[in-house]
Amino acid sequence: MSRGFEAVKISEHVYWVGAIDWKLRNFHGYETSRGSTYNAFLIIADRVTLIDAVKPNFYDEMMDRISSVIDPSQIDIIVSNHAEMDHSGSLPRLIDEVKPSKIVASAKGVQALYEHFRWDVNVETVKTGDTLDIGTGTLKFIETRMIHWPDSMFAFFDKDNILFSNDAFGMHLATGERFADEISPYILDYEAAKYYANIILHLSPMVKRLLETLPTYNLDIKMIAPDHGPVWREDINFILERYSKWVEQKPTDKAVIVYDTMWESTSKMAAAVADGLVSAGAHVKILPLDGVHRSDVITEVLDAGALIVGSPTINNQIYPTVADVMNYLKGLKPKNLIGASFGSYGWSGEAVKHLDEILEEMGVELVSPGTRIKYVPSDDNLVTMRELGVTIGKKLALLK
Ligand code: FEO
Repeated sequence: MSRGFEAVKISEHVYWVGAIDWKLRNFHGYETSRGSTYNAFLIIADRVTLIDAVKPNFYDEMMDRISSVIDPSQIDIIVSNHAEMDHSGSLPRLIDEVKPSKIVASAKGVQALYEHFRWDVNVETVKTGDTLDIGTGTLKFIETRMIHWPDSMFAFFDKDNILFSNDAFGMHLATGERFADEISPYILDYEAAKYYANIILHLSPMVKRLLETLPTYNLDIKMIAPDHGPVWREDINFILERYSKWVEQKPTDKAVIVYDTMWESTSKMAAAVADGLVSAGAHVKILPLDGVHRSDVITEVLDAGALIVGSPTINNQIYPTVADVMNYLKGLKPKNLIGASFGSYGWSGEAVKHLDEILEEMGVELVSPGTRIKYVPSDDNLVTMRELGVTIGKKLALLK
């Protein structure tokens, strides 16, 4: 029985038939404060084709939207651009119900789908440059390994000039609007950056290569339809230009100070460093971890030139919230950063040493060895911290 969800026509032959996850707040550790969408696209061609699907619990919503255009049994081809469950999770049920004559994925996709579902479904392999005639136009495939998984690929529909880009160029943003040009550019800018920082950043070398090779396929791309967030229509350069910038992560004069505190001593040190940075002309973001999520930290680091980390020592270790963030940042591989560490301690004070080790592993150029202050900083100690901020600020001005 239909619950009345309807498809949205996005071009002459293509409908959005995905789902809006208004209440999603956690996407594998990334705080999705504005929810998300799982986009699926239905091409009404001689051979009706579905590009990607949705999470299993949104199956009914997707089927309603498909049913508002055609009887789902008319779906002839399913293209699985990516095996992660947010796009593939409803495939077993869908395939069982629709019985398409053809399902295609990349070679890694065929393997990953099997390793998810342990099924006996025949999925055909397509590779970069392969085309699939769907009657009304042709699909051309481009493998985009590691954007976001080894199996990921794009599909280009030449009739309506749409690039179905799966995770790339997307964002976690639940909206009633389906096109980016209907949404505030401030929200697009922030959520696209947050998505890149949290999902794509460590894959930047692959994205850079993709941006370089994409023009060589001579695709006349008029729209980019990712699997999360809005479709790029008149303004595909909005997102392409940002990706070109983010893959480089060129140094800027912005410093991010991320810290947590036990008895406010590390907090006082953070404020003094920030004051020194400001006086040297740097832009500063202080992120106290008792109220800031790890996914917002990496978003701020995306366009920063310095990463300065503060932690008290607890049980000979880094404070738990700071350790969590450092683990997360390290995996996402931000680059071109200078930095330093600081923190208060009571007797042994290992946190700063551990932080320096992690920063060095991350390739952050340490401006000075970490600064430890016993118990509560004196006025002189705070002057020293302020001078550290000035030193980093001056260095940033030279690097910019
Ligand atoms: Fe949206 Fe990598 O899944």
